[in-house]
Amino acid sequence: MSRKTAKQSDLADYEVLLCVTGGIACYKSADLASKLCQSGAGVTVAMTDNSQRFIAPLTFQTLTARRVYTSLWQSSEDFSSQHLSLTEQADVMIVAPATANLLARLAGGLADDLVSSLGLSAWGACPILLAPAMNSRMWLAPVTQENMKRLCKWGVNVIGPDEGTLACRTVGPGRLAEPAEILQAARDLLLRKPPKKRGRPSVG
Ligand SMILES: Cc1cc2nc3c(=O)[nH]c(=O)nc-3n(C[C@H](O)[C@H](O)[C@H](O)COP(=O)(O)O)c2cc1C
Repeated sequence: MSRKTAKQSDLADYEVLLCVTGGIACYKSADLASKLCQSGAGVTVAMTDNSQRFIAPLTFQTLTARRVYTSLWQSSEDFSSQHLSLTEQADVMIVAPATANLLARLAGGLADDLVSSLGLSAWGACPILLAPAMNSRMWLAPVTQENMKRLCKWGVNVIGPDEGTLACRTVGPGRLAEPAEILQAARDLLLRKPPKKRGRPSVG
């Protein structure tokens, strides 16, 4: 097997839950989904309502060849409650981009939509990797920094944000980490453990 082939499939048998929240960097999460799939991982996407104003579920459905979860109230293929089963099945939950709003909801323990509920049900089920992205003032706001401190204290993993040119045409901290960096951070977390033993995946 060539080196290139080995690297491409090193996440085979791992399941990634990719959650997308409503920021301008949503388009980069399509690239991340594609890179994760190319690495061999099974990728299931969950989206907030607001993220669907930036990017269509169809994009992720096509890239991952799986259905995309957009609501707590959608029925799942095996009639399980997806706010619990998606994190049970996943080896990691990635939120990219993670909005200021989502960080606040996770730090406050809210569970009023699918992605925030998954954030709660991930505890004890799979590690969480957050990739925040927002305007610098939103990122540097004391409440956002406090929320990040709380989340880190509880063991949440964080990649970025990077510093650079932002969509709002300013320069500063708040850029989404590059998809390749997020992939590497996910890979580092995943390869610490073998993939979960699972029966027929309830995701499809
Ligand atoms: C054009 C536009 C771009 C936005 N970009 C961001 C962003 O990059 N990061 C962020 O935290 N919020 C951003 N927001 C605000 C979020 O969309 C807003 O807080 C929303 O409630 C987030 O919902 P969600 O976290 O449930 O997806 C943006 C809003 C608009 C209108």
